[in-house]
Amino acid sequence: MKPHQIEALEISLLLEAIYQRYGYDFRNYAAASIQRRITRFLLSSDRPSISALIPEVIHDPSFFQQLLLGLSITVTEMFRDPLMFKSLRETVLPFLNSFPSFKIWHAGCATGQEAYSLSILLEEEGLNHRATIYATDFNDEALDVARKGIYEKEHIQQYSENYVLSGGKRSFADYYHEKYDAVIMRKSLKERIIFANHNLATDSVFSEIHLIFCRNVLIYFDRELQKKVLNLFWDCLPYNGFLCLGTRESLAFSGLEDKFMPVDKKYKIFQKKEIQ
Ligand SMILES: C[S@@+](CC[C@H](N)C(=O)[O-])C[C@H]1O[C@@H](n2cnc3c(N)ncnc32)[C@H](O)[C@@H]1O
Repeated sequence: MKPHQIEALEISLLLEAIYQRYGYDFRNYAAASIQRRITRFLLSSDRPSISALIPEVIHDPSFFQQLLLGLSITVTEMFRDPLMFKSLRETVLPFLNSFPSFKIWHAGCATGQEAYSLSILLEEEGLNHRATIYATDFNDEALDVARKGIYEKEHIQQYSENYVLSGGKRSFADYYHEKYDAVIMRKSLKERIIFANHNLATDSVFSEIHLIFCRNVLIYFDRELQKKVLNLFWDCLPYNGFLCLGTRESLAFSGLEDKFMPVDKKYKIFQKKEIQ
């Protein structure tokens, strides 16, 4: 066996151990990205090889938690891809306005900025009292930050610019207050948000959701897992429900390409078609 084949074998054994011991399924994550992250974790953990991680992962849940953090990328921002939010404001929210109540799901919400952005948008469009927002991730540490809604002040300039580009109607400063080097999002913004742990690779969903965000998450999955997750979304969307993916993600190879209508091709907003 060549060295890279041995490394691939070690990674596959490690991922199998994680799955069997903890139920987290990384076996269908994109190989290059998982390899990069495991290698980075290995260097920082000072262990001699990927195989050496396996017994520790099996016997020491706290070591596994450290690895888990190393495997998940939680980069996000408020109003990320601001023009996607503008498009939502102009095309999707008027449609949701026809419902007395509706549900929204942020799958892979990381530290919560996307859910707070939506909460702001709903408030400005007078729809917040009708919405229930589920914001889920499999990373508990990220969810803790999300629940608190406390972010570093240094990002505020970028967030404010995004907010303006998204068609924001007020000043972004209306939505937080400052404390030392941090900003705390206004309490009313999280009243309709339920933060919860959910693993897209292994957990199911039991509710009908009108608008699903899963942005910059599928990109880390291989085709098989992308297909599984997209089918999960398909199942819980009603006809005419909306799905928003990241700009580098698509429905390709899911078998669902013809079952959704593009609402915004550039910003990857899709609407579930009615059965013909
Ligand atoms: C790059 S962030 C994207 C955050 C946000 N959606 C955005 O676009 O700004 C990806 C998030 O997906 C989460 N994630 C990765 N695999 C997951 C899985 N199997 N189930 C749930 N969340 C997952 C990671 O923990 C991370 O917080």
